[in-house]
Order: sequence, then C-alpha cells, then structure tokens
Amino acid sequence: MKNEKSRDYRALYRSKINKKYIKNPYQIRMNVVMINNKTPLFIYIIYPTARSCLHMHKYIIKGGNRLRGSVRLKAAKNSVLALIAASVLTEDDVVLKNCPDLTDIANKLKIINGLGAKALYNGEDIFINAKNALNTNISKKLAESLRSSFVLLGPMLSRFKRARIYLPGGCAIGERPVDIHLSALRSLNVKIAENQNAIVCDASEMRGGDIVFGFPSVGATQNIMMAAVCADGTTRISNAAKEPEITDLQNLLNAMGADVSGAGTSVITVKGVKKLSGAAYAPVPDRIVAGTLVIAAAVCGGELTVQNCRPYQLAALFGALKNNYCDIECGSDYIKIKSGGRLGALPDIATDPYPSFPTDLQPQITALAAVCDGVTRITERIFENRFNHAVELEKMGAKIYIDGRTALIRGVDRLRGAEVTAHDLRCGAALAVAALKADGISVVNYAERIDRGYENFEETLRELGADIVRVAECSRKPLRKIFDK
Ligand code: EPZ
Repeated sequence: MKNEKSRDYRALYRSKINKKYIKNPYQIRMNVVMINNKTPLFIYIIYPTARSCLHMHKYIIKGGNRLRGSVRLKAAKNSVLALIAASVLTEDDVVLKNCPDLTDIANKLKIINGLGAKALYNGEDIFINAKNALNTNISKKLAESLRSSFVLLGPMLSRFKRARIYLPGGCAIGERPVDIHLSALRSLNVKIAENQNAIVCDASEMRGGDIVFGFPSVGATQNIMMAAVCADGTTRISNAAKEPEITDLQNLLNAMGADVSGAGTSVITVKGVKKLSGAAYAPVPDRIVAGTLVIAAAVCGGELTVQNCRPYQLAALFGALKNNYCDIECGSDYIKIKSGGRLGALPDIATDPYPSFPTDLQPQITALAAVCDGVTRITERIFENRFNHAVELEKMGAKIYIDGRTALIRGVDRLRGAEVTAHDLRCGAALAVAALKADGISVVNYAERIDRGYENFEETLRELGADIVRVAECSRKPLRKIFDK
C-alpha cells in the first residue's frame, strides 16, 4: 500500500518523465518512493537518449540569423549553489523556487544527498531536508567537480563542529586558492590542518570575531556567513563581497531565523543565534544568463526581451553598450534590447567585484568586441587565466592581442565558422554567441560544459531564431544534413 506522499512522488516522477527528461534528459536524478508508508526507497534514473551518451557533446551552429523573442529567467546558479549549502544548517525543510536544471546544481545536490540529506527537484523547485545529514566525507570526485563544494565547509562546521573536505575544482580559469576562507575561519577560532589534499577543521571552540578580507571573495564571504550564523558572539566581515548572491544568502538565512545584516555593502555583521529553522525562498534571477542573452542580441542583431530579471544588477554591462548601435530599455523586471547594425568599439572594460563589470561576462563581451567596428581594450582583474576563449575566437577570424591580463581586440567585419572548444562554461557561451554571427557552420566542442550554467541553452537560442543543434560525438550524421529541413 502506498500512501498519499508516495502518490505525490509518483506523479512527480511521471511528470518528470513526460516533460522534463524528454526535453532535457541529460542528468541523473533521484526519485523517492515510500514503501509500507514509511521506508523511503531512493531510485536513481538515467534516461538513455543522446544527452546521456558518454561522448562529448557539440553544438552545430549556422550563423547569420537575428534573434527575436523573449526569455524568462530562472534563479541564479551561483546563488542556488550557496543556498543549497545553507540548507544543511537546519533540520527542517528548505524549498528553493524556480531553479534551473544545471549540472553544477545536480552535482551539489548529489553532494548533500551523499551526506545523508534528502534533496530533490519537484518541477522547478528544489526540496531539501538535511535532518539526517551526517558529518561524512564528501567524495573527492564530487568535491572536485565544482568550486562551490567548498562552500559547504561553513555550514558543516556550524552544524557538526568538525569537517573534512577536499580542495574544490571548478572551471579552469586560474589558481583559485582557498587561503582567504581558511584564514577567516582561523579568526573564528577554528583549528585547521591539511591532510592528503583535504582540509580538516575542528570548530568545537568556534566563536564570533572580526575579519578583514584581503580581497572580497564571494565564496569566502558565503562560507564565513554560514560558519558564524550559530556561533557564540558577533562576527564582522570587512571588505566582504557585495554580489547579489551574498544578499540572497543573507535573505535566506534571515528567513531561517538568523541575524545577518549589511549584505550588499562591504561590512557584514552576523550575530550568532541558537538555531535555524526551515524556509521557502525564491533566489534572485540569473544576471549572467541575462547578460549573455543581451550580448547575443547585440552581436546578432534583432529584438530580445529578457523577463524576470533585475536590470540594475547589469548597470556595468549597459554602461559598456551605451551610445552604441543598440537600444536598451529597462523596466523594474525586464530588459528589452533592439539592435540593428554593427556596433562601434566598446569603451575600456575592466572586470572587478560587483557592481563593476562581472568576470562571468568577460568572455561573452570579448566575443562582441570581436565583431565591433574599432579596437576595444578588455582587462581581466579577477581570474589570472580567463582568456581561454581568445585563441578559439581567433580560429573564427577574430583579431585579439593578449598582453598579460589585458586583451586588445580589433573588431572584424565578419567571423567565419570554425571548429572550436569550450574550455570552460563562460568560454563555451562566448563561442556559441560568436558562432551565431559567423559565416557558415561552426562546431563548439564540449557543449556539456555550457550545461553547468545555462539551462537548455541551445533550445533557448533556437526559440529565438538561431540555427543551432546539439549532437553527441557518436552521431554519424554528416554536418551538411543537420540543417536540412
Ligand atoms: C564565484 O567564485 C563564482 N562561483 C564565480 O562564477 C565567479 O566568477 C566569482 O565568484 C567572481 O564573481 C560561484 O559562486 C560558485 P572568489 P568564487 O572567491 O567564490 C581569488 C561562473 O562562471 N581567491 O570571489 O570562487 C580567486 O583565485 C563562475 O559562474 C583567492 O586568492 O570567487 C579569484 O582570483 C566561475 N583566495 C578571486 O579571488 C581565496 O581564498 C575571486 O574569487 C578565494 C579567492
């Protein structure tokens, strides 16, 4: 006999098969069925379609189409990843609404399920209950699959007072050390040792303290906010990150009963509370997806509306596009961009912490500069190795000269289709955007890296009028046949 709950799960299960997996069957998902009304049976399902093929995936893109239409944003990947970590702080249910279906999020859910929590998608929402979470090891492979695995350290120390965690992985865009996280934890009286590539922490005597970051690290700010949330006393983080993902974390923590203030400014104050409870929360929409689409429209021309966004978070991008050949109209929750001709050179752009130009849009704006009329100078100040896209854009005919952390881009009239490699997530998005403009057909290898941060990117672009398909490397279909209608 199956109870009410199990019927819900089965309905959820069927609707997933019918809607979500057919559309995006790439991920392995956990489903729960109740046996005898009480024992949950966890079932992992892989759907055998092209997307679950173990081969490399490619985008095949025929350039030249304008983009036209509208896109509704979902929650920001980098916010959801931190909020999932926050769910470990309570034994109650946490619900995150309107979340995208991304490999980074799926991996983060796998990590907390591995700790003994129950986390699953219900349609667009994520349900998490970490009551039975234990202080067990996170597998090395999963820890290395994404940078944000390390942001579980703060919540684990708060909840279990001890943790052993492997150094994180993530996109290959620089060294990405964790020294700021660790020295801040030491200021909270956490004892830290390194053992076989893992960090071992003892927070049995953790207490609030004053911390001054040498750099406003997003991940370290999140880790310390969550470590300190139930610690004795008050923690003050100076030179904290100001990104919208930090404000989102503050909002969720406060909805759970925490006492955190100052997010969005460079000083955050966390007054320790005894206990946190559950909450339902809608994370901020993804400004990087919004920015990528706006840039795609500026590259290809056309008319595009991005709905459910926070335009003020993209002020630096709009500054770069101001007084150029595109009209941008912003409402409180939408952006409309109309672009006709070739844009002139962009003003000097330098990435820096929020609210300056985001590093996560630097590859995409480089793709735009590659087709502007004139020379654009772009400086990358956050990551020391984030010009992987330049060499690939050059294969399409772009003229880019890199000098240290600065790229000088001499815009060309036309790009030509080429076979290029998505070295990382944003590099892949930038190459897809360039390919939409290039003459002829382009192939973007390792398209699955784009799934880390863009839900159904190819479908979104196709609905806007782009000629783009996704194939697994095992596909034997000749390229020329792919666009035969
Ligand atoms: C977050 O990474 C994002 N990732 C990144 O998103 C984003 O590019 C970055 O913030 C900057 O906005 C997630 O939220 C999961 P940082 P994070 O700590 O937290 C150095 C994307 O494409 N640093 O602010 O790792 C570090 O090496 C990505 O979605 C130290 O030196 O960023 C880097 O140069 C990729 N020591 C700079 O600070 C430390 O202990 C910024 O890193 C920590 C960081």
